[in-house]
This record gives sequence, structure tokens and C-alpha cells, in this order.
Amino acid sequence: METRHTALVVGANGVIGSNLIAYLEEIDGWDIVGLSRRGGQNTAKTTYIAVNLLDIEDCSQQLQQLTSITHIFYAAYQERPSWNELVQPNLDMLVNVVQLIERVAIDLHHVSLMQGYKVYGAHYGPFKTPAKESDGGHMPPEFNVSQQQFLETTQKGKKWTWSALRPSVVGGTALGNPMNLVMVIAIYAVISKELGLPLRFPGKLGAYDRLLDLTDAGLLARATLWAATNSQCANQAFNMTNGDLIRWNDLWPKIAAYFEMETAPPLQMPLQTIMADKEEVWKSIQEKYQLEKHSYQALSSWGFGDFVFSRDYDFFSDGTKARRMGFHEFIDTEKMFFDLFDQLKEKKVIPAGS
Ligand SMILES: NC(=O)c1ccc[n+]([C@@H]2O[C@H](COP(=O)([O-])OP(=O)(O)OC[C@H]3O[C@@H](n4cnc5c(N)ncnc54)[C@H](OP(=O)(O)O)[C@@H]3O)[C@@H](O)[C@H]2O)c1
Repeated sequence: METRHTALVVGANGVIGSNLIAYLEEIDGWDIVGLSRRGGQNTAKTTYIAVNLLDIEDCSQQLQQLTSITHIFYAAYQERPSWNELVQPNLDMLVNVVQLIERVAIDLHHVSLMQGYKVYGAHYGPFKTPAKESDGGHMPPEFNVSQQQFLETTQKGKKWTWSALRPSVVGGTALGNPMNLVMVIAIYAVISKELGLPLRFPGKLGAYDRLLDLTDAGLLARATLWAATNSQCANQAFNMTNGDLIRWNDLWPKIAAYFEMETAPPLQMPLQTIMADKEEVWKSIQEKYQLEKHSYQALSSWGFGDFVFSRDYDFFSDGTKARRMGFHEFIDTEKMFFDLFDQLKEKKVIPAGS
């Protein structure tokens, strides 16, 4: 008889969570519960629940019914204005969901945690590259590290195990996300084109020729499930990247060509400032090309764009641990961008002719 598992995907509407749900839907053997504040449209395999993980009353009430959960996939995220302020809410959300689920779900088997390169201090400045899972830590506070420490401590003596995935900047299509590089580039390109401008790299000059890796959200979903369901991965963390490296000075002109645009030399311009007054232009583009009427805010993660484009230092990890242990997939990053832009066209988020 087929063994069925029940996944609780926490952060169901996120760039990462939504792609994980899409993958679990494709494969056999999984029932899915998608958790976020906004909820979602149920499907044959996925039931969405709207829960605020920072509201302990709401959590207690709604999570106690989730007795069949076998795997928690944690990919929720709360944005805050400073690195220090990220810690408390992001730790609280994980603690609330794990403590309540382990109390009611007697078959809980695994907790998967989504992390990132902040574990390596990548947000502070030049960090050791390629970053390895075995590298020494840095001075706290840092929310990914606090979350992992919570799992390590809580798991002791339990029959469930944990794993952690450490992607680079993630490429995926989702709406209303504070960290969405593909959306940043697509909306910036379409507006530039509409205004008759070339596609100018808006980051630091030094960021244009640095090495960078990225992680496709679909690849990440498959790796996350691999780590969660293979016993040799228990209680360990894994870098997860596409497997290649890029430099913007090579990729940017190709992105411009995709959008049928000219390029011009880079000019550092804070996207948060220069894109703040472009809502009316965007609305007129939506009208002109009969696009879906998503709000400009839901499509804007300009602060994240500024963050990524201002890294004038190498930004990549060593992805061989997962490959050595059995996950062998890779993705061409150039193709990833074009496939994701194509998806945005199909979903009528950006004009088909752009
Ligand atoms: N995106 C990237 O490029 C990237 C790169 C490396 C690492 N990561 C890491 O991966 C993790 C997930 O990131 P992401 O970019 O996928 O995040 P995201 O797109 O912002 O998604 C976050 C999810 O959390 C949900 N959420 C937020 N607050 C909540 C609350 N109080 N209660 C319940 N659900 C809540 C959101 O849905 P609702 O709004 O509906 O609640 C959303 O589904 C983060 O730890 C991030 O640091 C991301």
C-alpha cells in the first residue's frame, strides 16, 4: 500500500513556499496544507489555512486540528527594517508552529527549514567564498542561525529530524513578496522600455562584474524534498544553488536582448527612490497591454533589488555537499531568467511583446 505523507507548507504564498506546493502537487503520495495569513484557493491536494503565526491564540486554535502532519516545510518570512529586528518575529513564528504541531501530530517525521546566506554573514559585506556549510559562525543576532539552533535543541530526544536548505537569491514567480529579484528586473525593464530608455544596470559599478550564484525556486523545491526524505540528510544543512555562476556584465545585456532593449553603462540609482513614483506609469502599461490588475505594491520589491545590486563583492557558496550526498540536479541560470520572464508573460503580469 502507498505510504501517504502530509506536508504543512508554512509560507504558502511565498516565492519559495508556493513553488514547493506546486512541486508536491505534481508528485504522488502527498497531501498538502498551505499556511499563511492570506490563505489560498483549495485544490484536490492542497488545503489552505489562513493563520497569523505571530498570534499565538490564532495558532493554538487553528493548528490543533492538524494531527496528520508528517512533514513541516518552513518557508515563512517577516520583513523588518534592520537585521537585528528580523530575529524575534522570525524565530517566534517557527517556534509557534513547531511547538504546536509536535504536540498534536504524533507521526511528525521531519521539519525542513529554509535559510539563506545570512548564515554566512553575506548581508554584512564581503564574506568568505565559496561559503561552506562547515564554515565558522559569526557574531549573533542572525535569524537563520537562531532558527536552526531552536530546531537543534528542540529535536534532541525526539523521533523527528530536521534539515535546512541554504539557497542564494531565489528565482521564482510569486506576488506580494519582499524578496523577488525576477520581478524586480522584469518590472524595471518593462517600465524602462515604455519610457524609451535603455536597460541600465542600476547597481553599484563594483557589483557589475562580481561572481554571483542564484537558485531556481523549482530546483530548490526538489532539493528541499530530497533533504527531507533521505535519512542521510537528517539534522544537517545544505547550500543549494543552480550549479553555475554569473556576472551581471555578461547576463545584463542578454536580459536586455530578451526584452528587445538596448543597454547603456551602469548607473547606480536606488530603485526604492527612482521607482517610487512609477505607479501611474505601471497602471497605464497594464491598461495598454491588457495585463492582470495586480497592484504596483504587490509587484515591487525595490529594496531587495537595491540590496542585490549593491553587492560589490563575490556572492556564492559551495554547492557540492548536496551533490556529493545524492542531489545531482542543476539549472542554467540564464535559462532560468528567461523561463521565469516567459511565465510572467503567460500570467499577464508583464506584456507578452516585451
Ligand atoms: N526570496 C529569496 O530570494 C530568498 C533567498 C534566500 C533565502 N530566502 C529565505 O527563504 C525564506 C522564505 O523567503 P521567501 O522569499 O519565500 O519569503 P516570502 O516570499 O516573503 O514569503 C513569506 C511567506 O510567509 C508568509 N507569512 C509572513 N508572515 C506570516 C505570519 N505572521 N503568519 C503566517 N504566514 C506568514 C507570507 O504569506 P502571507 O503574506 O499570506 O502571510 C508568505 O507566504 C526566508 O527565510 C528568506 O530569508 C529567500
